[in-house]
Amino acid sequence: MDNILEVRDLNISLLENNSTIVKDVSFDVGRGKVLGIIGESGSGKTLTCKAMLKLLNEKVFGVRGKVKLNGADILNMDDKQSRAFIGKDISMIMQNPMTAFDPMMKVGNHIVETLKAHTSLSKKQAYAVGMRVLEKMNLQRVAEIMNSYPHTLSGGMLQRVMIAIALMLKPRVIVADEATTALDVKNQAIILDEFQKMRDSGIGLLVVTHDFGVIGKVADEVLVMKGGEIIERGTVHQIFYNPRTEYTKELLEARFLVDEVNYA
Ligand SMILES: Nc1ncnc2c1ncn2[C@@H]1O[C@H](COP(=O)(O)OP(=O)(O)OP(=O)(O)O)[C@@H](O)[C@H]1O
Ligand SMILES: [Mg+2]
Repeated sequence: MDNILEVRDLNISLLENNSTIVKDVSFDVGRGKVLGIIGESGSGKTLTCKAMLKLLNEKVFGVRGKVKLNGADILNMDDKQSRAFIGKDISMIMQNPMTAFDPMMKVGNHIVETLKAHTSLSKKQAYAVGMRVLEKMNLQRVAEIMNSYPHTLSGGMLQRVMIAIALMLKPRVIVADEATTALDVKNQAIILDEFQKMRDSGIGLLVVTHDFGVIGKVADEVLVMKGGEIIERGTVHQIFYNPRTEYTKELLEARFLVDEVNYA
């Protein structure tokens, strides 16, 4: 198996009381494959994602395990080494765009700084690339957006800006935490289409969502998390049509209470 990402025995604890929040999480993402993660609120999905990109505050959380990107364990590298990979080879689309941006930094600056940190583009070139990637996300008046502070944009716009930033360096792995939840149907379709193109080009995707419609459209395999552990895993077909645990059955049934999405 041609794995691009291998997570092994990821454990996350809360340092203040030494309690375990995420326990022994292991999974692989293959080249051009999409792994979905589902599970109730508070089951540890976001913490798992953030730990992989070393985004958790070390004073609050203890993180153990391995996160191998193309064979290199980024979790156990020193920060100086891992900075070269994180944001470039692995990037994350955050669940809450409003809190993911530095409020004092204009969108354009944010994009230019990210590009300059990982490429040899000039400021002018980086600006041009920024405009192009925003247009790809179906954003209009991109020059205006580049010149805006994050809080002046709507949640859906900011979400697409964040997706553009996560995709623009053509990472090997993208972690998408509820990336399409804040979007209307049309923009959700545009983003899912971008995901599809990404995987066609060999990128691996980890897609965290409550939306079974999204899972059904894009995922190859699915992990089900509960209380910080993976309690079930399988192909999309297995999970949807032949769930083994009561918990997964309940999750599947609950979705009909929320919407009538055709996931097949
Ligand atoms: N800063 C923190 N301090 C203490 N506990 C935390 C902190 N952040 C998260 N937790 C706890 O860790 C658990 C997992 O949180 P996480 O955000 O990963 O859930 P999630 O599965 O992403 O939920 P959702 O579907 O609502 O996004 C939760 O029970 C939460 O209470
Ligand atoms: Mg979350």
